[in-house]
Amino acid sequence: MKFFLSIFFCFTSISFSKTLDTLAPGQTLKDDNGETLVSTGQTFKFGFFSPWNSTNRYAGIWFKNVPQQTVVWVANKDSPLTDSSGVLNITSTGNIVILNSHSGITIWAANSSAKNPVLQLLNTGNLVLNDGGYSSHAWQSFDHPCDTLLPGMKLGWNLRNNQSWFLTSWKSLQDPSTGEFTYKLDPRGLPQIVLRRGSEIIYRSGPWDGVRFGGDSPLHQNAVFKPIFVYNTSFVYYTYENNDSSIISRFVVNQSAGSIDHLTWSQRGKYWVNIVTMQRDECDMYEHCGPYGICNIDKPSPPCDCPTGFTPKVAQDWNVLDWSGGCVLKTPLNCSANEGFRKFSGLKLPDNSQILISKTAMRSEECKAACLGNCSCVGYAETDGSGCVGWFGEMLDIREYDEGGQDLFIRMAASELGSNNNDKRTVAIVSVSSVAFVVLLLVSVSWFFIRKKMIRRSKAQRLRINNPNQDYKPSVSEEDVELPLFDFHTIASATNNFSFTNKIGEGGFGPVYKGKLSTGQQIAVKRLSKDSRQGLKEFKNEVILIAKLQHRNLVRLLGCYIHGEDRMLIYEYVPNRSLNLYIFDQTRGTALDWGKRFDIIVGIARGLLYLHRDSRLRIIHRDLKASNILLDSEMNPKISDFGLARTFGGDQTEANTTRVIGTYGYMSPEYAIDGLFSLKSDVFSFGVLVLEIVSGKKNRGFYHPDHDYNLLGHAWKLWNEGRIMELMDALMEKPVLESEILRCIQVGLLCVAQRPEDRPAMSSVLLMLDSDDASLPEPQQPGFYTERFLAEADSSSTGKRQYATNEVTITMLQGR
Ligand SMILES: *[C@@H]1O[C@H](CO)[C@@H](O)[C@H](O)[C@H]1NC(C)=O
Ligand SMILES: *[C@@H]1O[C@H](CO)[C@@H](O)[C@H](O)[C@H]1NC(C)=O
Repeated sequence: MKFFLSIFFCFTSISFSKTLDTLAPGQTLKDDNGETLVSTGQTFKFGFFSPWNSTNRYAGIWFKNVPQQTVVWVANKDSPLTDSSGVLNITSTGNIVILNSHSGITIWAANSSAKNPVLQLLNTGNLVLNDGGYSSHAWQSFDHPCDTLLPGMKLGWNLRNNQSWFLTSWKSLQDPSTGEFTYKLDPRGLPQIVLRRGSEIIYRSGPWDGVRFGGDSPLHQNAVFKPIFVYNTSFVYYTYENNDSSIISRFVVNQSAGSIDHLTWSQRGKYWVNIVTMQRDECDMYEHCGPYGICNIDKPSPPCDCPTGFTPKVAQDWNVLDWSGGCVLKTPLNCSANEGFRKFSGLKLPDNSQILISKTAMRSEECKAACLGNCSCVGYAETDGSGCVGWFGEMLDIREYDEGGQDLFIRMAASELGSNNNDKRTVAIVSVSSVAFVVLLLVSVSWFFIRKKMIRRSKAQRLRINNPNQDYKPSVSEEDVELPLFDFHTIASATNNFSFTNKIGEGGFGPVYKGKLSTGQQIAVKRLSKDSRQGLKEFKNEVILIAKLQHRNLVRLLGCYIHGEDRMLIYEYVPNRSLNLYIFDQTRGTALDWGKRFDIIVGIARGLLYLHRDSRLRIIHRDLKASNILLDSEMNPKISDFGLARTFGGDQTEANTTRVIGTYGYMSPEYAIDGLFSLKSDVFSFGVLVLEIVSGKKNRGFYHPDHDYNLLGHAWKLWNEGRIMELMDALMEKPVLESEILRCIQVGLLCVAQRPEDRPAMSSVLLMLDSDDASLPEPQQPGFYTERFLAEADSSSTGKRQYATNEVTITMLQGR
């Protein structure tokens, strides 16, 4: 009886100890009793565990509420126990030790000390040794990171005692001992975080610019956590906090890929979702383009280029895609008096910067003079946080972004410094802001009138839209599934496990990866981000319908993958990337002569007509723009992302849509303002595209020294002044067919008319483009020709702007 009683007590004491979050001297945590500490908020557990399929025992911390054991910290990572003999206790002097209870040998010690020690597992995941009344901890696990950074942990330096916090990957999934990857902050020059494999640098974040790393790391744009960078005389470190205390998230150095991932636990899906990988794509591979080489992922392959004034060091190597030699100046420096600097914008600044002037309030001329005055200074940059920095020796690991990034000034001989300076932009900004008030006034007035008109029209439209399905019933049974469903492993192995080196872009709906099936076929995989609220059945139905659309000017959908919320679309791979990379680029623009451009315009018109009229469905694209026009190996245009707007977003039956999909600069007034769209909104976007192709200029961000119109306004002005041929892209090879250009411009202007009813249907557009002698109607005043601030308002593709009074935004399934 006594024996049973003692067993009973023994069990109760175990279950009691499980709810404790503290351990005092004299108390122990025994592995063979399964004893653990649990933080008061029930988020973390501390105890003994075996990783994956290993039998070794380690003491560590893991998430209590994540079923698949996820360890965030390990005490004895380099000295495992081989059985469950481990015991953890606190000595009276405050040292935390783990003993092998059979042999009595100490296998790990924290080397901590305290007078009145109490060990406590906090709900942040920090295991701390408190010392009686002292407010700071005598020891804490947060000071000894392993491979994981939890919210509140630091990655950086305490500059007062030269202590560094850095991450080290595990050796493998079953072995937490020191692996080959380290992610450590480098405080010299502009502080940045560097990932090494052994001693070799394989990635660097680039310097913190006040909001983000490297000018464009994806860290700052997420709903889950807030990145924080602290830089003062005592500390320099990176940390983050979750936006919501119920979120479970972690930042980890992956032991196999060396990727640095920020993951969050999906309560619904019960899996870890990777929301950010620090390395975005191949341009983040360290020194991918060699010294002075500039990597730009948005260029058609190859991504490497030399900056203006430079030339490949070994041209033969560049021709066979070996960029490691990098670039050299066309005219070498000799430190003569008439050297100067050329400005390059939108960059991730090169590695190995050195502080030239550390004060932040410094004039540009001081920074320039500091670099110019030292013959070994090859370039400089001015930064908000760190003052003026310079580079000595070769500039390494530069990448260029389409948006974001920082300015770099590179030293070169006077002969290389053209008159082509960027100073005009400042003038433009000043003049824009000074007319902003007037423009604002104009817009509010026209807005008022447009709205008034739209309200009348929207009533009529709503009648039609309310029941879009009435005479078209998608009836897709499992038997008609013609769309191959891919399995995850096929896609994963085709894309190298969604490796960042295979990532070729980030669309409005999620990342896009290039891949190769085992058959050799090249594919593009679009992984939809997980905020679709659409049901599985509707998604499948619509994907199947879209897969049935086939036209030589549409990108072909090959199949899809669906698993819970994880959805992917698999497309044919189109080698020459997108139209915007050609028409808006000084050098590549010359590759497109007028004949090619005309074929592209006609091809887009054909594809669009098919979507609007000839396909079984009537599809309104809603986001037609240059970057959604892909070019195959013969430069034939293929419209992409059609129908995505309807498969994704799930807004086709809701009357109160808040998600306006589209891109400013291409959106028709009635759509941007009232959220109303029709076939004619696509016609508007097509018109913008035509004018962009002819002129080689972007509508959004268009700048002209003489006026403040955007490209549409500029074209309208030239048209009225009888100087319309001046719109033509000066880069285009001569001779050109003037009558054809004129016709295209006129069609473009007709398409961007303010009122939708003044715009032609796509069938008439094709007729007008095709016939030499048809007399075209006179264009009307374009919509959105002055509202440059609207066009330049913050937005990416699928701008998620909320519109207070959104009428019906949809159409889509209209029967015929
Ligand atoms: C590293 O990546 C692999 C493959 O994606 C994954 O299975 C593993 O869990 C990751 N490791 C960590 C520590 O997250
Ligand atoms: C130029 O700058 C480098 C790096 O700061 C420094 O080591 C060198 O002494 C300077 N040279 C001259 C001539 O000032």
